[in-house]
Amino acid sequence: MIKLTPRLQAIADEIEPCGCFADVGCDHGYISLYVLDRWKANRVLSIDVSLKCLEKTIKLLKSYNVDDQAIFYNCNGLAHIREKPDEVLIAGMGGAEMINILYEYGKTRPLNSIETLILQPMKDVYAVRKWLNENGFAIVTDKIVKDKKLYHILKAIPKYQRLTEDELMFGAVKQSYFTKEYLEWLYLYATKYENILKSASKQATMPASIKQTLNRIRKQIQLVEENLC
Ligand SMILES: C[S@@+](CC[C@H](N)C(=O)[O-])C[C@H]1O[C@@H](n2cnc3c(N)ncnc32)[C@H](O)[C@@H]1O
Repeated sequence: MIKLTPRLQAIADEIEPCGCFADVGCDHGYISLYVLDRWKANRVLSIDVSLKCLEKTIKLLKSYNVDDQAIFYNCNGLAHIREKPDEVLIAGMGGAEMINILYEYGKTRPLNSIETLILQPMKDVYAVRKWLNENGFAIVTDKIVKDKKLYHILKAIPKYQRLTEDELMFGAVKQSYFTKEYLEWLYLYATKYENILKSASKQATMPASIKQTLNRIRKQIQLVEENLC
């Protein structure tokens, strides 16, 4: 089995054993292979909108002789799949695209038929948390992993949860706040808003919300610094 990168391993660590696993945006195929190699699912739906990318997964699974347990789809999101996936992974895309894939799927089948959702958005993690929260999912894992960059990984299950504004901004699972990767992410988050503030101060009006957001981030930094040994 191929050695996974820290980001992919952190995603793989969240995978629950299930009947049918959907790897949306499978690309290189490493997660589809991991799931079959480790007997995490009986069947994998390997899905990619790009035929070239899907062919990489097909080639990899064939080389490991596990392609007969996979169903390959060259399509947009979950739009054309015939099977009902128990677990869905969408990794390495923007948050808005993930939300759209899930929204479209919800038009054809109840969203709560997905028992586990694993999402690794490249951006817009706030919007992803908010969407999950408003669409009947509870976030049970909300962690940051450092690879070449910092990545958010969320795991959600169909269950009621009402997150506060702070939880939407900073993460739904408070136990995950106290890591050096998390603090590093907060520093970057603060820098982003300091830069926005700097350029906004050159203009006549400075939106109060930017200052408020920055204050919130600084408070969160203080909380983490005080509790991180
Ligand atoms: C950056 S790669 C990520 C690959 C892998 N999931 C990972 O996390 O390493 C994104 C992949 O998602 C595919 N993709 C993007 N939008 C998609 C969509 N709407 N439906 C299916 N695949 C999509 C791309 O073709 C590409 O192969």
